[in-house]
Amino acid sequence: MTCWGSWRPADVPAGRTYAGAVSTPSSEHPDWTTTGFSTRAIHAGQDPDATTGAVVPPIYQVSTYKQDGVGGLRGGYEYSRSANPTRTALEEALAAAESGGLAATGDGGPAARGYAFSSGLAAEDTLLRAVLRPGDHVIVPDDAYGGTYRLVARVFGPWGIEHTPVDLADVDAVRAAVRPETKVVWVETPTNPLLGISDITALAGVAHDAGALLVVDNTFATPYLQQPLALGADVVVHSTTKYIGGHSDVVGGALVVATAAQLPGGLASPAGGTDVAGAVGFHQNSSGAVAGPFDAWLTLRGLKTLAVRMDRHQANAAAVAEFLVAHPAVTEVIYPGLTSHPGHELAARQMSGFGGMVSFRTGSEATALDVVARTQVFTLAESLGGVESLIEHPGRMTHGSVAGTSLEVPEDLVRVSVGIEDAEDLVADLARALA
Ligand SMILES: Cc1ncc(COP(=O)(O)O)c(C=O)c1O
Repeated sequence: MTCWGSWRPADVPAGRTYAGAVSTPSSEHPDWTTTGFSTRAIHAGQDPDATTGAVVPPIYQVSTYKQDGVGGLRGGYEYSRSANPTRTALEEALAAAESGGLAATGDGGPAARGYAFSSGLAAEDTLLRAVLRPGDHVIVPDDAYGGTYRLVARVFGPWGIEHTPVDLADVDAVRAAVRPETKVVWVETPTNPLLGISDITALAGVAHDAGALLVVDNTFATPYLQQPLALGADVVVHSTTKYIGGHSDVVGGALVVATAAQLPGGLASPAGGTDVAGAVGFHQNSSGAVAGPFDAWLTLRGLKTLAVRMDRHQANAAAVAEFLVAHPAVTEVIYPGLTSHPGHELAARQMSGFGGMVSFRTGSEATALDVVARTQVFTLAESLGGVESLIEHPGRMTHGSVAGTSLEVPEDLVRVSVGIEDAEDLVADLARALA
């Protein structure tokens, strides 16, 4: 059985559940591992409050908990950096969402534990501290979120972590880049911002042959469209700021760790044990970049509607991509749903939909800057995944930090996060801006 009801950080007492709710199958609800994605996203980890029957987990805006005698913790709660009931509900729900199987197929995934953080980068930072040591090497995508690259290159670099950017669509190139010190292969698929697709199963094989972990940033695809753990990944990373939160009103991050995943190179966690989940739990509590109760509650609220939002995001994205393909001012449209995309067939196999992000090129930086300044329904802003459509110039905005590196993006590139407004208004807005 998937064990999202039983996770706990290594140094936090056992027995904690959200508000005393029964997270394992009971006479009151079915085994959520056997239900579809939307049912899991709405219910798993979120049983009605045991005291009041409140149907959504309350915001436990509290830092500490009364003990019934020293060490007599109620439900395992002692201090909200270590654990908070609203965060526990989110962490259980995220684990259920990522480990319960593909939305399209219902295939079961491996047991997993979820951990919620104050941002996507806080989640990434905690994971890398938990699994790497000075002298280790990481393979990173040669197209990735600029902040991830900055973290690996400019924060972990000075602490003795080496990295190699590789085109992850080329599995042989990844294999060739592996060194004895390689401990992590970091995957984004689709990538940000060029929407490259890579083969998670094949890359898991390369990583595991090398004794390394396969980490997949699933922010763009979301667990509704892609289930990396079921495809062999050890850890899934999210910026929950994006589609999971879904309303551009909260910054957050998450790790979902396969419980079977072991630390690379025979490493032991400072808390004892060799499993990645235990090490991540220890580091989450020790470094403390946790999601606050209100942020956890907002994120949980977003997760409940992820499936319906994604259906609309990708229907609108397909309409936008089709319009852009036919537009004379656009030199290239990048969307995995287009048969012209080199990763189209792989995406069709690996994902149950093509997502809501579209990138396109305009032939010159001046045109790209002009277009992003002229839209009226698409808002010029960083970030993505909210209900409202956003447009940006990656070269000068989200990916400014990788200028001058091998991850530099084309200067004529425009990225749109297609929202869930009416498709015809979105197309008309782009038509006006491109005219
Ligand atoms: C793919 C991806 N991963 C991680 C992050 C970092 O997340 P956050 O901004 O929540 O720290 C982002 C942010 O844009 C992203 O796009």
